[in-house]
Amino acid sequence: MEEKKFNQIGVSFKGSGSYVPHQILSNQKISQKVDTSDEWIKSRTGISERRISSSEDNVTDMGYKAALNAIQKANWDIKTIDLIVLATSTPHDLFGSAPSIQAKLGASNAVAFDLTAACSGFLFALITASQFLKGGNFKRALVIGADQLSSFVDWNDRRSCILFGDGAGALAIEATNKFDNFIGFDMRTDGERGCFLNLPSKNIKDSIIDNIDFVSGGFSPIQMNGQEVYKFAVREVPIILKKLFKITNYSSDQVDWLVLHQANQRILDSVGEKLKIPKEKILSNLEKYGNTSAATIPLVMDEAIRKNRIKQNDIIATSGFGAGLSWGSALIKWG
Ligand code: UT7
Repeated sequence: MEEKKFNQIGVSFKGSGSYVPHQILSNQKISQKVDTSDEWIKSRTGISERRISSSEDNVTDMGYKAALNAIQKANWDIKTIDLIVLATSTPHDLFGSAPSIQAKLGASNAVAFDLTAACSGFLFALITASQFLKGGNFKRALVIGADQLSSFVDWNDRRSCILFGDGAGALAIEATNKFDNFIGFDMRTDGERGCFLNLPSKNIKDSIIDNIDFVSGGFSPIQMNGQEVYKFAVREVPIILKKLFKITNYSSDQVDWLVLHQANQRILDSVGEKLKIPKEKILSNLEKYGNTSAATIPLVMDEAIRKNRIKQNDIIATSGFGAGLSWGSALIKWG
């Protein structure tokens, strides 16, 4: 059969990489710090342990290592990378950590910038980078999700500290005029409900000189209304995925893998049930890493690619959700 001519620019997925810090914080160890137990954490979240960054594992270091992995898998000459988008809420430098990763890689022909959308960050960054490729401006892009929430968790708050861990993941994507493996996407935010999950400024007033006030920098620990975030996720994620299937003319039974932001195993199970996607198709690594924020999606994907679970041409439905509140979905074909 003659190959259909494809006269638009599409996206091809070329490689993945990930990195997690070496320090392991188990549920047993957390229960020495706050009033909780392995049994409570496991049954309510599915998490057994998480990784915690040491001083050598900041977002730049982790993002760099994940990115290098992805570049090697893609077999790219580093000088051919045009764009680096780093999704993070915890940059090593508030002015942006992506250029530091660019420098460490030696990707001197790329433009690099940070994008912040909390746990939806990776998905929003993937959509952003794909649009640049489809617009014809860039050929090769690295999309990195890296977060170090351990620096901003209140380690005395048992309602939130049990959830989070540190890590990074990356995907290497490329423009092509032969096909389009970035099939469709949708994105939403609702700032009205933003108060359910925040990492707010400390907002401490000081004065420079008489009558000129300023607010000093710095952040308060994460504040979370867990029940409201839970209800938001199990309601909105199935809706945005169903809408995605509708706009792309796909159905949930055509999906090989459901790749959700790794927030809570109960959220993953509930979304899977609502979409009638069986458990075997839902990727999960919560048990080992907890919620690594912008890193969860590329981290769990990279693991599945390395284990040869995700294969060439597999259809992946993905959704990120979290603070903002923000949420989104994308349908992709691997390869
Ligand atoms: O990227 C998005 C990030 N955020 C999320 O994904 C959060 C989504 N929400 C959740 O995952 C869940 O709401 C949690 C895991 C945070 C909490 O689970 P839950 O089933 O909603 O528990 P709950 O808040 O309703 O608390 C039930 C009980 C309470 O005790 P009482 O008032 O019933 O006596 C809590 O004080 O469990 C207590 N509790 C704990 N007990 C032991 C709360 N945290 C803990 C804990 N260990 N760590």
